[in-house]
Amino acid sequence: MNKKPLEPQNKGMNAEQLEQWFRTMSPEQLAQKARETSIATFGNRIYIRGLIEVSSYCRNDCYYCGLRAGNRNAERYRLTREEILDCCRNGYACGFRTFVLQGGEDPGLTDEWVERTVAAIRERYPDCAVTLSLGERSEPVYRRWFAAGANRYLLRHETANAAHYRKLHPPGLSLDQRKECLYALKDIGYQVGAGFMVGSPGQTEETLSEDLAFLMDLQPHMIGIGPFVPHRDTPLRNEPAGTVRQTLEWIARLRLAFPKALLPATTALGTIDPEGREKGILAGANVVMPNLSPVAVRRKYELYDNIICTAEEAAEGLASLKQRMQKIGYEIVVARGDHPEMR
Ligand code: 5AD
Repeated sequence: MNKKPLEPQNKGMNAEQLEQWFRTMSPEQLAQKARETSIATFGNRIYIRGLIEVSSYCRNDCYYCGLRAGNRNAERYRLTREEILDCCRNGYACGFRTFVLQGGEDPGLTDEWVERTVAAIRERYPDCAVTLSLGERSEPVYRRWFAAGANRYLLRHETANAAHYRKLHPPGLSLDQRKECLYALKDIGYQVGAGFMVGSPGQTEETLSEDLAFLMDLQPHMIGIGPFVPHRDTPLRNEPAGTVRQTLEWIARLRLAFPKALLPATTALGTIDPEGREKGILAGANVVMPNLSPVAVRRKYELYDNIICTAEEAAEGLASLKQRMQKIGYEIVVARGDHPEMR
């Protein structure tokens, strides 16, 4: 086809101008443009990340999360370094070139243990990226882990409105602190991921505008968003879940605002819609994160009710995930999948 290259239509637009532009489009037009933008940057290539849920212990008490410290019904586990390296070995054989070590804010994961684990993975798999997602730590610790070989860090900001942040988190956690971590991580040289839940209790059009403005300022390399899904053992158990429609709309908006960002079609989206992953890709997402955790611990890492842990969400289901992506015209690739400006 003889298509002229896509104009970077968002060039120089601020958050307000972007939102004005979004309002001129129907949801279908928005998704269409977002998809074109994603294709212009990444082609039809979908990056995969192997998610290793290293610990379900958490010292925090976030009102939305099933892993909150106050949840006595949660079963807790912590993987050993050997178990993690086993996950990497399986994952590498399947074609994963990024390993994401995600966990609750577990004081049992000491700074030194994480450092050594990162170093061990990078030593065995020098062609792979290591992403950490272990919550808030001090800047010196982030520096240490970076020096040990960690490449990326995922830390959702959850909401950029301070009052909304306080409604979702207990005293002791603050938006300022969260932002400080994100700017520090970026400054150190990590590829940084922020993000938020769509439809979280108390979220409004205004707080979402603040999310966009904050992200424009931070310029993260990755942005993870998914619908809020209530968990039965949390204070927000009776709140309605976020919708597929609104999540897709925000994926598309973020793609247009951040043409080069890595945007996952998240597990939460796949949880509330059996075709959520595909729909996310078709709205501009370009990453999926199948679960590489040992099968025995998977159901214990329960952020929200009915979190999917079927084969297709996991490394074992990679073949069928590939087929599903092919059906919509996309291809899963074996590659680290760094941000285009960090290669
Ligand atoms: N619904 C959806 N997403 C959730 N997370 C935590 N609890 C929930 C929930 N109930 C998300 C948060 C967190 C990430 C690890 O999981 O955004 O940053």
